[in-house]
Amino acid sequence: MKPVNVGLVGLGTVGCGTVSVLRRNENEICRRAGRSIQVSHAAVRDPQKERSCDLSDITLTTDPFEVVDNPEIEIIVELIGGESLSLEIVLRAIRNGKHVVTANKALIAIHGNEIFSAAQEQGVTVAFEAAVGGGISIIKALREGLAGNCIEWLAGIINGTGNFILSEMRDAKRDFSDVLAEAQARGYAEADPSFDVDGIDAAHKLTILASIAFGIPLQYNQVYVEGISALEQDDVEYATELGYRIKHLGIAKRVDEGIELRVHPTLIPERRLIANVDGVMNAILVKGDAVGPTLYYGAGAGAEPTASAVVADIVDVTRTLTSDPHNRVPHLAFQPGSLGSPEILPVERSETAYYLRMNAVNRPGVLAEVTRIFGDLKISIESILQKDRGDHESVVPIIILTQHTKEFRLDQALVELEKLDNVNGKIVRIRVETLK
Ligand code: NAP
Ligand code: HSE
Repeated sequence: MKPVNVGLVGLGTVGCGTVSVLRRNENEICRRAGRSIQVSHAAVRDPQKERSCDLSDITLTTDPFEVVDNPEIEIIVELIGGESLSLEIVLRAIRNGKHVVTANKALIAIHGNEIFSAAQEQGVTVAFEAAVGGGISIIKALREGLAGNCIEWLAGIINGTGNFILSEMRDAKRDFSDVLAEAQARGYAEADPSFDVDGIDAAHKLTILASIAFGIPLQYNQVYVEGISALEQDDVEYATELGYRIKHLGIAKRVDEGIELRVHPTLIPERRLIANVDGVMNAILVKGDAVGPTLYYGAGAGAEPTASAVVADIVDVTRTLTSDPHNRVPHLAFQPGSLGSPEILPVERSETAYYLRMNAVNRPGVLAEVTRIFGDLKISIESILQKDRGDHESVVPIIILTQHTKEFRLDQALVELEKLDNVNGKIVRIRVETLK
């Protein structure tokens, strides 16, 4: 049978990884797909740039639309990133009747609803396994493997760069900016690394996971987002002393009133498997009502791990080239007409436990003042730790772990605590999840 022609838009970290994997595993891939797959054309910005992959038999152009409009190409693989040109490229490919594979989570999280409805109309597929969790097949697992379950919650380490930075800060006590530079050199970071550090990339990914898990439209703007840049070494160490690890998590939880969608640094008990996922590795814990908790683990970024997911999508699309579009797996797992609209809760209405660190004057009665505020607001304290006994009247850190409470209550407590004469400066607050 005639080979399937693939057009790549972008030949950077993931694009070159994709070409290398397709070439190296050509025979295995052909045996799986039922047809051989060849990259015939690729668009880049700078055709003179040296590339890490073999470009023989690939026609290069600087015009992505030359690839998208080529009638010989059946599958367009969008790997340039960003969300304006990539949106134009993907919509034009769909209008041209071509299937699309993309690793672009920003594009799917922000424009996915429009893209999938255009694809549905044209009877083409837009596949995006590489958009979440790098090489981990989490989209397939959620969309197909767990199709019999009602998903209760999921929680994941879904940004490789951020996890790499946190792990190196904790284990090697390395400087934040030095580790970020290494993540960039290894090809893990986004073109704008503030997306990794400020939690935006994780929020894109959480948007996609939540949509597939709960059968709701993509709603990126509703995600509560905190990054890792405000984390202090002291908290990493106190958390360790208390038997926790700090991880940057994306959490999507179905509760009675609606759905919680939040991305933030989180204390997790160190005995949980996910607390021990370090470096660029990602892991997503998914709790289904039938299966119970399941954990998906693997490299979350990098050339070939991400290419593994891109190529799997190309194989999937190749297999479906001849199948009835109405019988394909729906883009967001649920049939397009069956998406629900539960309320996405503002973070103030979410409920969790908290780690708090405050600087207080070491004077009789101060702890009583502090605990009275919690008592008045009906927030139960799990434990209190005073670091350094300190001299009388000196300022010492006090660490408090609370039990579960609504976030708006905790906000009130922080306002009251920061008003106390004996508490100095801002109180550090990190959410705690037991992930039982
Ligand atoms: P990258 O290394 O920066 O590569 C981007 C590629 O796009 C480059 O080859 C660049 O050409 C090309 N390009 C950019 N603008 C173009 C234009 N206007 N016309 C033609 N070509 C253009 O990016 P990447 O790391 O491979 O990431 C690609 C996508 O995958 C992004 O959406 C990213 O979020 C996603 N992703 C990345 C990873 C990862 O580990 N890196 C993992 C999962 C998902 P030149 O090479 O000539 O500059
Ligand atoms: N910048 C992303 C990360 C790439 O570090 O996780 C993978 O999506």
